[in-house]
Amino acid sequence: MKLYHKVTGFVVAGLFVLASCEGPAGPTGPKGEDGIDANANCTECHNNNALIAVKSAQWESSTHALGGNAAYANRTGCVQCHTSQGFLESVAEGSTASLTVPAEPMQINCYTCHEIHTTFTDDDWALTSPGAVKLNVKYNGTDVTWDKGTSNQCASCHQAFAVSPAPAFGGPDYEITSTRIGVHHGPNTNLILGKTAFEIGTGYPATNPHSTADGCIKCHMSTPYGYQAGGHNMSLKYDSHGTETRLLTGCTPCHDISSSTLLTAFNTKITDYQEDIQEKLTTLENKLIAAGIYNSTNGLAKTGTFKANAVIAYLNYNTIKEDRSLGIHNPNYSEKLLDNSITAMTDLGY
Ligand code: HEC
Ligand code: HEC
Ligand code: HEC
Ligand code: HEC
Ligand code: HEC
Ligand code: HEC
Repeated sequence: MKLYHKVTGFVVAGLFVLASCEGPAGPTGPKGEDGIDANANCTECHNNNALIAVKSAQWESSTHALGGNAAYANRTGCVQCHTSQGFLESVAEGSTASLTVPAEPMQINCYTCHEIHTTFTDDDWALTSPGAVKLNVKYNGTDVTWDKGTSNQCASCHQAFAVSPAPAFGGPDYEITSTRIGVHHGPNTNLILGKTAFEIGTGYPATNPHSTADGCIKCHMSTPYGYQAGGHNMSLKYDSHGTETRLLTGCTPCHDISSSTLLTAFNTKITDYQEDIQEKLTTLENKLIAAGIYNSTNGLAKTGTFKANAVIAYLNYNTIKEDRSLGIHNPNYSEKLLDNSITAMTDLGY
């Protein structure tokens, strides 16, 4: 049931009986013990400006809503990122150590990211996790912090897993005991900061043009295309009459696409860059297959004992693959990470 247009009568009274345990509402409308006047405050959000309707429609067609993995990953060790309940509990407890596995896991929704129905005023658009996030994985032994405005909301979930024990560059042979060794599916924050765990070689750029103070929302929550991309959908691709099209509204402050020639040139630049990264990934993948470390059939690692540098090269391959921006999140850094990993494999004779 959607109550965007009218929040009056039965529902409001019902909600306030729940909230205040008081008797029937007085003649001026329901008023809780805490003095909240439902009619005055609810309408700060529930009114006819369709704000909730439009954000909801964008979200409803997003992977956050439809990905389905809240059910699949409804387990200890996963609920903090994959279920709304697990995330909110981890925020409340400041820890992921002892989280409940919810009976009815929910995908990430309005209540996961916003303080909906806390004060019952429009202050409740406040984010549930606004603070800077100390990432789980250190960089060269030092803590890494993500602090980029409202994109702090994204960082607890969209970060790399730690690999433990970590292979040491040039160190002793390393035994892979799980085919799922790696950074998991969302190492986005680590890569954008240019602080990934398995850097090898030298020549890494100190800055990233795509790491701005706005963080993720700069591109992913930019002016939307209907319900299909940007805004609260957060995707950067949409279908336009059967053609997969990029959402570029977040790129325009920096990349000029003001004429059709410039637009074509920019799309070509993106395609060329992503193809270049894909080629490097394939080169590295072939070397990892030759080393017996990567199973291209299921996309996972193979268990066994390998040279430490080969395991490191695999973990870098895994990082760029799982980030899924094909290098865009940090262009020069991603290229360097792949080049140096390819060189390391060549040095091992692959
Ligand atoms: C910060 C803005 C905001 C305020 C203020 C607010 N709501 Fe909501 N409300 C929401 C959002 C967002 C949803 C979820 C919409 C969705 O899931 O589609 C919602 C959902 C609801 C629902 C549907 C059931 C549910 O819980 O999802 C009811 C009923 C409701 N609100 C009643 C109220 C009442 C009564 C008040 C005032 C006492 C109020 N709201 C104040 C934002 C607000
Ligand atoms: C509570 C954890 C959590 C938060 C907070 C979160 N995400 Fe996600 N995100 C996920 C998960 C989990 C998925 C995959 C959902 C699934 O498969 O069920 C996902 C999917 C996505 C996708 C789609 C990827 C695809 O494969 O289509 C994008 C883009 C994304 N998130 C961006 C963001 C941005 C930007 C923010 C911050 C505004 C954010 N996320 C906040 C956990 C989170
Ligand atoms: C630190 C947060 C975090 C934790 C913990 C986590 N995940 Fe994820 N997971 C994500 C994010 C973010 C995505 C979405 C990445 C994307 O779509 O680009 C994701 C995606 C997935 C996917 C979809 C992969 C795909 O290719 O579409 C599966 C399956 C999954 N996770 C399973 C699990 C399981 C099982 C666990 C527990 C063992 C777990 N996750 C723990 C953050 C997490
Ligand atoms: C994955 C996290 C996430 C989810 C889920 C999410 N939001 Fe948001 N929302 C954000 C972030 C981050 C911002 C701030 C974006 C910015 O700074 O431009 C925001 C901003 C907003 C705003 C503007 C608030 C203001 O202060 O003006 C509204 C309204 C809003 N969201 C509504 C919703 C509704 C309704 C839902 C559920 C359908 C929802 N959001 C789900 C992360 C989320
Ligand atoms: C400079 C713009 C930019 C910024 C900033 C940015 N992204 Fe992306 N992101 C992209 C592009 C471009 C892609 C690739 C889209 C494609 O090729 O489908 C992408 C892909 C992704 C994907 C893969 C799934 C998908 O939708 O294709 C996820 C998940 C994601 N980004 C999350 C994040 C998160 C989380 C942050 C912040 C930590 C972030 N991004 C910051 C531009 C950006
Ligand atoms: C804050 C400014 C800014 C934003 C926003 C931004 N870029 Fe960039 N981007 C740059 C700069 C600066 C460079 C480096 C100079 C150049 O190649 O234009 C760059 C480089 C690139 C490159 C070339 C990488 C290479 O090494 O060849 C691609 C591709 C790219 N950006 C795509 C995007 C896409 C797609 C978006 C939006 C989703 C985006 N950028 C958003 C500033 C930005």
